[in-house]
Amino acid sequence: MEKLLKEIEKFKLEIAAFNEGDAETFRIKYLGTKGLVKAIMGEMKNVAAENKKQAGQLLNEFKLFTEAKYDELKSSSNNGKKETGSNIDLSLPADPLPLGSRHPISLVKNRIISIFQRLGFAVAEGPEIEDDFHNFTALNLPENHPARDMQDTFYISQNPDWLLRTHTSSVQVREMQKGNLPIRIICPGRVYRNETISARAHCFFHQVEGLYIAENVSFADLKQTLYFFVQEMFGKDVKVRFRPSYFPFTEPSAEMDISCLICGGEGCSVCKKTGWVEILGCGMVHPNVLDNCGIDSNKYTGFAFGMGIERITMLKYQIKDLRLFSENDVRFLKQFTGAV
Ligand code: DAH
Repeated sequence: MEKLLKEIEKFKLEIAAFNEGDAETFRIKYLGTKGLVKAIMGEMKNVAAENKKQAGQLLNEFKLFTEAKYDELKSSSNNGKKETGSNIDLSLPADPLPLGSRHPISLVKNRIISIFQRLGFAVAEGPEIEDDFHNFTALNLPENHPARDMQDTFYISQNPDWLLRTHTSSVQVREMQKGNLPIRIICPGRVYRNETISARAHCFFHQVEGLYIAENVSFADLKQTLYFFVQEMFGKDVKVRFRPSYFPFTEPSAEMDISCLICGGEGCSVCKKTGWVEILGCGMVHPNVLDNCGIDSNKYTGFAFGMGIERITMLKYQIKDLRLFSENDVRFLKQFTGAV
């Protein structure tokens, strides 16, 4: 009797902790014709006559206990199956994870960076909140210079000397001041101007500035660098032309046009029937700028250029409205999934 009691206690613990399979496995192991409950019932014959009644109650209770566990397994949501293990079909297709895409401005910015990196240009960055000196004065735009009006500036009310940079040319100044020559950098970043938002203008946009300063840098170096850029960016068939222009920080200055990608030079609305679209400003760094930044203008020369990333992106992907870049409508953005 004592032995039977001990056995039953042991099996009860085992049954309570059962997790080796589903309800059917349990039934076969414990309640089937060759199961444990049947086998234990068979022990009755070894029990002394005076204990038979007590043993009968005990075994009956054990049977009920086992059946209750079986019912519990059957009614559990996964039929008593273990959560992990061979019953999970790992070959089932997973729920799709929607993939994001890079913003077209980032795509084009990264492409521009990688093209110039191949020519040995390093990336430099500067603050978006600038002071007057770095944004204007050092770049040969002293106070009251009329060319300051070319850029509608956002000033910071706490300090009249602070402003949101109107171009990435301010980063040139910071790099020149460091004095580690030669300098060969590009400066991508966001710039701000107080413009009314329309399809062609925005109060913030992105530029990439380029600067190369060493001994004997010439205008021919500038042209060759920009030819290479255009061919890598837009393909070998695109034609390039330089037009004389004016920027206070370069002398001589030029603007560079490329043959219209939309009409191939025939004339269309994008190129305003001229066959050409302007993509950047450039020139030889003005000696005053070198001097303002502590570089000996008798020894060193350099070229600089600046382009709008939005402009390049619009041409590359034939986007007609600048506002699309900042509205972040996913129907627009997801068209660039996988684009490079
Ligand atoms: N900073 C000019 C702008 O924002 C662009 C530019 C023109 C940059 C000529 C240059 C340059 O470095 O040489 O419109």
